[in-house]
This record gives sequence, C-alpha cells and structure tokens, in this order.
Amino acid sequence: MNRALTMRIERTLDGLAVAAIQDALGVQAPALLRPTTDARHGDYQMNGVMPLAKQLGRAPRELAGPVAERLAAHPAIAKAEVAGPGFVNLTLADAWIAERLCASLADPRDGVPEADARQRIVVDYSSPNIAKQMHVGHLRSTILGHALVQLLRFQGHEVIGDNHVGDWGTQYGLLIAGLRADGGDDARAAALTLPELEGIYKQASARAEHDEAFAADARRELAKLQSGDAANRALWERFVAVTRIELDKVYARLGVTFDWWKGESFYDPMLPGVVDTLLARGIAREDQGAVCVFFGEWDGAPPKLAKQTTPFIVRKKDGAFLYSTSDLATIEHRASLGIDRGVYVVDSRQAQHFEQLFAVAAKLGHRMQLEHVGFGTVLGKDGKPLKTRDASGKVLTLASLLDEAEARAEAEIRREGLDVPESELTEVARAVGIGAVKYADLRQNRLSDYQFDFDKLIEFKGNAGPYMQYAAARVGSIFRKGEVDEAGLAPTALTLTEPAELALARQLLRFADVLHAAADTAQPHLLTDHLYAVAREFSSFYEACPVLKAEGDVRQARLALTALVGRQLRRGLSLLGIDAVERM
Ligand code: ARG
Repeated sequence: MNRALTMRIERTLDGLAVAAIQDALGVQAPALLRPTTDARHGDYQMNGVMPLAKQLGRAPRELAGPVAERLAAHPAIAKAEVAGPGFVNLTLADAWIAERLCASLADPRDGVPEADARQRIVVDYSSPNIAKQMHVGHLRSTILGHALVQLLRFQGHEVIGDNHVGDWGTQYGLLIAGLRADGGDDARAAALTLPELEGIYKQASARAEHDEAFAADARRELAKLQSGDAANRALWERFVAVTRIELDKVYARLGVTFDWWKGESFYDPMLPGVVDTLLARGIAREDQGAVCVFFGEWDGAPPKLAKQTTPFIVRKKDGAFLYSTSDLATIEHRASLGIDRGVYVVDSRQAQHFEQLFAVAAKLGHRMQLEHVGFGTVLGKDGKPLKTRDASGKVLTLASLLDEAEARAEAEIRREGLDVPESELTEVARAVGIGAVKYADLRQNRLSDYQFDFDKLIEFKGNAGPYMQYAAARVGSIFRKGEVDEAGLAPTALTLTEPAELALARQLLRFADVLHAAADTAQPHLLTDHLYAVAREFSSFYEACPVLKAEGDVRQARLALTALVGRQLRRGLSLLGIDAVERM
C-alpha cells in the first residue's frame, strides 16, 4: 500500500475493513466505519456487517465474528471485538500509532497526503458590492472563503480565489443620476468618499420610487454607461476606485488576497448571448415581456425545483439583465478556462438562487462541479442580526469592529500578565485580535447563525483563537527552554506507554483525516475542533508527563509528541488564516 495513504487513518482502516468483509463473508460491502464517541469502546466502530445479515440470512453477531478475527490479525489493530447487535469495535495498536507518528514527523507535510485527483477550482468569496460598505455577511464570506482556499490548496488543488464584486447593474444608473442631480461635477466626483456614495445611492433610489422623470433619467444614464459613454464610464470607475480603497484596507488587515478580481461588469458583454442560448435551446421562454426559466416545464427537472413556482428570470421586461444572467455568464467563462469546480461562499439566504443557477448550468450541459457553501447570519448580543448601524444611526463599520478586537486583545494580554515584551505588544495584540474574530467564525458550524460577543472572543481559555495561539506559543517556549532543536528531532521509533501520551498520540493521528474532511465538506470547524482537542490533550499530557526533565527514550518520545503538537497547531492556524505568535 502507498505509504502516504496510510497517514489517512480512517481511510486506511476503511480499506482494511472492506477487505476483511470480502474475505470472511465473500461479499463486497461498505464498512461504515466511524470514530467511537467513547474511548472505552476502542478507537473506531464498524457497522458494515449488520445490514448484511438479512441478505445472507444469518445473525449479525455470527457474521461479525470472522470479520473481527481477520481485522485483529493486522498490525494496525490491537483488538477487534464484536459488540452490541453486531458492530465491530477496533482498538489501534500502540506500536502502530507510534510508527505512524514518526512518519508524520519526518514528513514536511506533517503526514497529510495530497488529494487523489487534482482539480482546478475557483472559490468565489467575499464578493461585496461596489459603492457600499462591506457588511458582516461579507466579512463571514471573506474569512470562510480564505480558509477554504488555503485548505483546498493544501490538498494539492490548483485554486483561484475570485472576488466576484457586485460592480454592475441598475444601481449605477441611479448613482450617476443622483450625483448629477446633486449638482455633482467632476471635481465632486473626484473627491467622493464611500459614505457619501452610500448616501447618494440611498437618496436616489428613494427618489426614483416616486419621481418618474428621475427614474427615467437613471435608466438613460445606465444605458449610456452600458453602451460605453466615456463620461459615465469615468464616473463608474471612480465609484469602483473609491470603494476599492476601503475594501483593500479591510483585506490588508485580514491578510486576505485574491487571484482574480473579476467583478460582474467583466461578464457584461456575454449577457445577451446567455439569454439567446437559453431561448434557442428552449430552456427559457418569454413571459409578459421577461425571459424566464420555468422549472415545472422541463423534462426531468430536479423535483424540488419543479415544485417551486418562482421562475429564474434572466431578462426583465425593460431588457435589463440580472444577477442570474451574470452568474450564468460567469460559469460559461470559467468553463472555457477549464475550471473543474466552482465553490460559492455566499450567505445561505441565497440558497434558492444557487440551486436554480446550478440546475440551469447542468441543463446547458456544463459538467463543472458546482457547490454553494452557505452560511448563517451573524447575530448581535440581543440575538437579532448584527446591525451595521445602531439605533442612533452610528455606523458599525468592519474597520471599527476590527479596531475593537485589537484593543480588547491588548487589554486582555496586559490583564493576564502574559509574556509579551512591550515592543511586540502592538503586533501581538493585532494577531490575537484579528485571530480571535476569525477563529470565532470558523469554529462554528457554518450553517448555523452565531452570536458575536467580544467578551467570549478574546479569552485565553476554551475553544477560542487566543487560547490556540497561546498553546502554540507554549510549545515553542518548551523547546527554547530546553534548548532543543525542534527541526532536528527525527526519531525512528517512539516509546509511548503513559495513558496521557497515548491519548495525545491518538488525537494527533487524526490530523490528515480531519484536514481532508474539513476541505472536502467545506467545514473549517472540523479543523478547529481537532486543534482544540489537541491543545486540551496536550495540557493533560504536559501536567502528567514531564518532558524536559525526562530522560532517554522517554524524553525523545515526549519531545516528539510536543513537536507534533506545535506543528499541527501552527499548520492548522495558518491554514485558517490565523497568525501564530512566537511568545505569549
Ligand atoms: N455581491 C453578492 C452579494 O453581496 C454576492 C456575490 C456572490 N457570488 C456570486 N457569483 N453570485 O450578495
């Protein structure tokens, strides 16, 4: 067997279990293996025998016996026991665990093999709208998307991070008309700020509601912009540039960069063609002047969509194209570049849009793997969606939120009396504050809403960013104190005997499985859960087992475990976009 593959323990065991079923019972069946929830039942539980009982006409426990026997013969397995109605509980062999950990220590990828098939993936994330402040929803997309890009890249995929900004559409006609009505000249346009732009847009869209002449004006300005009028184009470029300045500040603070910044405007020339194709292929039809896809009218439409009455509108009565049209053009373009997979990190409230979009893309014959990575809403302390504007109208900008996180981190570091020299305090507070905001987001199951609470964020205990950075720094300090060269540790065998050593070793062994699962299912919280478990096991281990004071093989083994803890914490945090701090 491929040596690298065996680092994915769960997969390795799954393969062994399938082979054992085949060998013992002569059938090919899934092993249904999962980690046990209770360590008293061993490390993994295999449920694959039970469904076979009916098929083979025998009692499940009777079938499980010979399967367990074959598994027990493998060097990875110390014990394979039939339990309950017919599961098999597997306990890993200590010597095998030790051998696997030695191999991870020797591996520059910390024992994590690449994915089997390399894909070209576009991750569409952050994607705020031009002429508006970025809001918390976009912050969430930015943090999640960035982590996902890095996890997928670490799996060996070719990943393109695309900031698909909303920089096109009817709002730009309103903005231009609004600016002109306001007596705006070129000088005014040149000095615009983002809050001013937001104000102009608000007024213009309210005015268009009741002032038909103004609304017509806005439509004319939009048409001019779309047909390339130089003056309107210059204004639009100004709007983009003004917004970009603010966005770049936030991205710089978050340490996030993009490979592409192809906004919706990039796809504008393709929009008429998209609608023509849909009409020609009979996928869309005209309805009261608009062009729509009606899923109920398709042969073999996805049942869930066929039942929905909401059509997918690709052109409005007035000829305007929509978000949907632009997203179809985007898929077309990405497909032409040989992209295999498109991942959209966007609020769950857009789930229906993506379901419809993906169905239409499939109908058009695109084979690209398309995934909507949705996420829930960020709530305030009151349990209501976190407002970017409070009752008094004061705007809570993302910048002020990050400022607050950094200030609180600094105060907390001082209060805890941590080992941070005054000269490094600002930098450490930055890493801790920003890291806390990111970690708080990533540790959640992304689909659930979560409450944003500064008090819980900047804590040095529990499943929070600062605690993880602190744990990583502590490992570094052990090596400094013992004057041990961490990189030079290359044991060929480890003696693990203490329960605390073995408990930590077992947790460390799961790293490769966890990283792949987090990347494959776009659930970074699987990784934070693992890191937290590693940090906790490490604490118990460190209390029970002296490291620097131990001697000989015992010391070597403990240093090796400590080094692996540091490497997993640092690697994990860095993949999540969280900076490690050297001393804390
Ligand atoms: N700009 C959109 C919004 O703020 C998000 C765009 C997401 N990406 C996409 N390809 N639809 O809601």
